[in-house]
Amino acid sequence: MRNKELVREALEARKQSYCPYSGFAVGAALLCGDGTVFRGCNIENAAYPATNCAERTAMFKAVSEGNTDFRAIAIVGGPKGKEPKDFCAPCGVCRQVMAEFCHPKEFQIIMAKSPEDYQVCTLGELLPKAFSPKILEVEQG
Ligand code: THU
Repeated sequence: MRNKELVREALEARKQSYCPYSGFAVGAALLCGDGTVFRGCNIENAAYPATNCAERTAMFKAVSEGNTDFRAIAIVGGPKGKEPKDFCAPCGVCRQVMAEFCHPKEFQIIMAKSPEDYQVCTLGELLPKAFSPKILEVEQG
């Protein structure tokens, strides 16, 4: 799937955003190795910290469906009801969740304003020196 199509999926996902507190609607579309796309939106809560970001919604949907082979994610965000005017970068917690499942040099993060206007970074660029599962590997006796 091309970047443009993944951005379109993220824009569709954004329509489901539940953001009555911030008024900031985010959509994400996660591409897996088998071509499956998982959509996610931000889901806020009256107890603010219980909010889930769009990226994590998409990743958790994928994992819960047995898919952890993540290749790319498109992200769009901006004030609800308006076209995104800026590129929306993933928050630190979402980057950390990506580090659990994604190859730092291969996983692509597509931050978009529209299908024609986007930037692509790798996870390694956005989260260098990550605390990843490798660090927890212990020598077996
Ligand atoms: N948000 C996301 O969904 N993804 C991000 O990476 C950044 C922030 C959401 C959380 C909250 O609902 C709103 O944007 C404002 O922070």
